[in-house]
Formats: sequence, C-alpha cells, structure tokens
Amino acid sequence: MHFEPDLLEKLRAARRIAVFTGAGVSGESGIPTFRDAQTGLWAQFRAEDLATPEAFRRDPVTVWNWYAWRRKLIREVMPNPAHLAIVQMERLIEHVTVITQNVDGLHRRAGSSDVVELHGNIFDNICSACRQPVEGIADEAGTPPTCPRCNGLVRPGVVWFGEALPEAAWIRAAEALESTDIFFCVGTSSLVEPAASLPRDARALGRTVIQINPAPTSHDQIAQYVVRGKAGEVLPALVRAAWIHAA
Ligand code: OAD
Repeated sequence: MHFEPDLLEKLRAARRIAVFTGAGVSGESGIPTFRDAQTGLWAQFRAEDLATPEAFRRDPVTVWNWYAWRRKLIREVMPNPAHLAIVQMERLIEHVTVITQNVDGLHRRAGSSDVVELHGNIFDNICSACRQPVEGIADEAGTPPTCPRCNGLVRPGVVWFGEALPEAAWIRAAEALESTDIFFCVGTSSLVEPAASLPRDARALGRTVIQINPAPTSHDQIAQYVVRGKAGEVLPALVRAAWIHAA
C-alpha cells in the first residue's frame, strides 16, 4: 500500500494524534455498521427506528431485546487489526486519543488507554426515569429490569437519536482537538451531528486531517489526505510505513 511521503513525514513528526472512529472500524470485527442492512431477526427493523427514546417508550421489550442481541454479538467478536494498529500508535508517539462514535467498547478491549465514547457504551445501563446509572444487572433478552431507586425501566446507557451527547465526553473531544497534531477520521459516514462536526473543527484549527474509508463521504473535501481502503488494512500499513520500516 503506497502513502504520500509528506503524509508519512507528518506522522513521524507528530507528538499527539486523535483518531475519530465510526462503525466502519468495527465492521471487520463482524459488527454491522449502522447503514448496513440489519440481519436475521432484526432485518425488519432500521437502527434509526430502534435507537430512540420514542421506540423505547412505545415498545421497551423490543428495544431491550435488540440491545441484548447486539451485546451478545459484541461479546462474541474480537477487536480487529484497525483497533490494534491504533493501540500500536500509542507505543510510538507521545499520546493518542480515540474519539469514537461506537458503543461496542472494542477500542478499550483492544488496549487503547484514552478513549472518549461520544455515544456511550452499550454495556452501561441507566434508568429511563431518574437517569441514574444502574449497576450489576443481567442484560439478557427478556423484559427490561426496573430501577432499584425509582422502579423506572432500565435502558442501555447509550446516546439515542435526538438525545444530547454526554457533556464530559464532548469536552474531552474538544480538548483533544486543541492539542492534537494529526486528526484521523476513520470508518464514519459523518452523517450524524454533532460528532460529524469534529473533522471540520479539526481542519479549522489547522490540524492535518486524514480520512480513511473505502467509500467517499462528505468529509473527503475537508481532509488533506484521503486514503481509500478498509481500516483493518490501511491503519496497520500506515503504522508500518510511518514508524516501523522508517526505524
Ligand atoms: P455508518 O454506518 O453511518 O457509516 C459507516 C462508515 O464506515 C461508512 O462511511 C462506510 O463506508 C465505512 N466503512 C465500512 N466498512 C469499512 C471498513 N472496513 N473500514 C473503514 N470504513 C468502513 O456508521 P457511523 O458513521 O459510525 O449514532 O454512524 C455514526 C452514528 O450514526 C452512530 O454512532 C450512531 C448512528 O446513528 C448513534 O447511535 C447516536
């Protein structure tokens, strides 16, 4: 895989790197992306019709069971070479911050030490009524458990369509943009705001923006570098070309 020499030079000179990731990074672990058609039992549903507060109010059992299915799927897969290449970067430069839209927790499982989960984590649970975290419940299929404090229905601790991002995560993402030299945008369709504004903000701050995606997205013109390809192939090749073979 060939990379522009000045891109490799910029990577070698970088002290801090931010990697903004979407569902495409988990795709090669076997987790369908949001814009992939749902499979099997869930083929009749669109993610956008299940990941909403209205869907949970209307049919909490179906939404709860969709997440139970996804949690089971995620537990059975492994981080892929894209996740692992990002971890390897941590050993080669001063600091790497992962800013992910993914709720699957695979960056942490791969070993990334600074992960900002903009849309929460699918294995967290909160009460749909009092919004407090609910620990230690069995998250299998069935009916949603009830909150030990207020008896409200328990729901996954992820951001649903129309909901605000966790403020602390958003602040950490903004701080990462302030200090980073390089901003990778990997495996995201960049359709969902406000997360999709991060690559634009990074470019406006003068950061080097690198887009990695097998398909074109609206952010191609924001990036100084666009690498067409799969994250699990491009990121390991980029780490080798920039730091390993250069050593
Ligand atoms: P999408 O499903 O919208 O987009 C996946 C992106 O990954 C697309 O641009 C694909 O071209 C790309 N892709 C597919 N396979 C890839 C691979 N092997 N390597 C690299 N890229 C690949 O998923 P997201 O952009 O993450 O929000 O969606 C963003 C948000 O929309 C999600 O976090 C979710 C959803 O609504 C919430 O749940 C709040």
